[in-house]
Amino acid sequence: MLFRSRFLLLLALAALLAFVSLSLQFFHLTPVSTAKNGASSKSRKRVMPEPVTEPPVTDPIYEALLYCNIPSVAERSMEGHAPHHFKLVSVHVFIRHGDRYPLYVIPKTKRPEIDCTLVANRKPYHPKLEAFVSHMLKGSGASFESPLHSLPLYPSHPLCELGELTQTGVVQHLQNGQLLRDIYLKKHKLLPSDWSTDQLYLETTGKSRTLQSGLALLYGFLPDFDWKKIHFRHQPSALFCSGNCFCPVRNQYLEKEQRRQYLLRLKNSQLERTYEDMARIVDVPTKQLRAANPIDSMLCHFCHNVSFPCTRNGCIDMEHFKVIKTHQIEDERERREKKLYLGYALLGAHPILNQTISRMQRAAEGRKEEVFALYSAHDVTLSPLLSALGLMEARFPRFAARLILELWQDREKPSEHSVRILYNGVDVTFHTSFCQDHHKHSSKPMCPLENLVRFVKKDMFVALGSSGSTSYYDACHKEGF
Ligand SMILES: *[C@@H]1O[C@H](CO)[C@@H](O)[C@H](O)[C@H]1NC(C)=O
Ligand SMILES: *[C@@H]1O[C@H](CO)[C@@H](O)[C@H](O)[C@H]1NC(C)=O
Repeated sequence: MLFRSRFLLLLALAALLAFVSLSLQFFHLTPVSTAKNGASSKSRKRVMPEPVTEPPVTDPIYEALLYCNIPSVAERSMEGHAPHHFKLVSVHVFIRHGDRYPLYVIPKTKRPEIDCTLVANRKPYHPKLEAFVSHMLKGSGASFESPLHSLPLYPSHPLCELGELTQTGVVQHLQNGQLLRDIYLKKHKLLPSDWSTDQLYLETTGKSRTLQSGLALLYGFLPDFDWKKIHFRHQPSALFCSGNCFCPVRNQYLEKEQRRQYLLRLKNSQLERTYEDMARIVDVPTKQLRAANPIDSMLCHFCHNVSFPCTRNGCIDMEHFKVIKTHQIEDERERREKKLYLGYALLGAHPILNQTISRMQRAAEGRKEEVFALYSAHDVTLSPLLSALGLMEARFPRFAARLILELWQDREKPSEHSVRILYNGVDVTFHTSFCQDHHKHSSKPMCPLENLVRFVKKDMFVALGSSGSTSYYDACHKEGF
């Protein structure tokens, strides 16, 4: 019970913090150089919030609440913001699946009792929830690439299975879809009313939670969810690297990164004591407990307001949770400094970014196919993408996180195309490594498409520091790395 009231108190505190930080962001809609050019700064004022990606604060409870992403009031979002003379050409959406049941169980404890059926009288709720379920029931005619057709189209177990999407997860993506629909379809008319299959590009990994998240988002997004027009492709790799996954140097970076993680953990004696204490409570060797990745399960307890498990030796509690979560935040900070992960991320994200710029270039040439691309993915997809783009300060992808690349055309100069990058509704365009200085020289509140193209085709490999690599293949096979 102590846990419950403390949870409520912390929730209130976090809500206050979130409000303060949001209002701070809001009131920081500061133009960058107002003095010189009144006209351009006026438009900039509207479209460029600052600061956009403040580094994570070290309050573990606040961070955990952001991670849960519990649907509440309509959030502020900057998607689709552009001066009137810009036309939206295409949109590329990368999502993490919504809230899910843990992938691991804490050994020798009762797993959290979470109900994965979708019902109207449980919170969080979305007005389209029932319609979503009945539409999914009719989905047998869907054309999915194998092996996707064997997956259930919506979560349905009264006691969630491991990794299953929850009602919270469905609602998060119905909300994402609705938000994108209001902006991209209603406001910017990205799709004509008689849109066809080939105007969408849909791809998901082979997990039910990613397919279902993608479907929920599309159900919220599309004005008429016609099963005949929905074609999901299957992506076997969480990096979405398709036919270009073989990259030995990327794996070497990953091994070094894992070694760094391991050493940092060893240095944290408080963390070791916490694991030992938890292992004592559940009565397994410390090693086994650590291997069971208890934070995944604890986050589920936390996000769903279910008290942590107890045994006759005692209870896992909020103090354990805080220590592990604080270590995670520290780990991310060191990860940014040491740059090993960056090497992994640049090589890991190249194939999907390369594919995305090709799709953008085709749209820029006036082709009408694939103007809306959706990749339904994981934290291990979004995280490398964020790092590769240079968004080092961005938070670890929360449930239902969304990273969006928008392609725009300047009607006054039709040959010029620009991109905007948004993470969870925040405009991070000028925080990317390829557009950091751009706004200081330009009156446009966006980044030239060429910057992104040059980055993906060439500068990504320069950023790797492996002297001389000019192609993905080179960089992946560098001798003596
Ligand atoms: C958490 O659970 C307690 C008891 O079940 C309940 O009273 C409280 O309202 C819940 N808190 C939230 C934020 O849902
Ligand atoms: C990058 O895209 C081009 C054009 O679509 C393609 O020919 C090439 O194989 C891609 N390279 C990688 C490494 O993905």
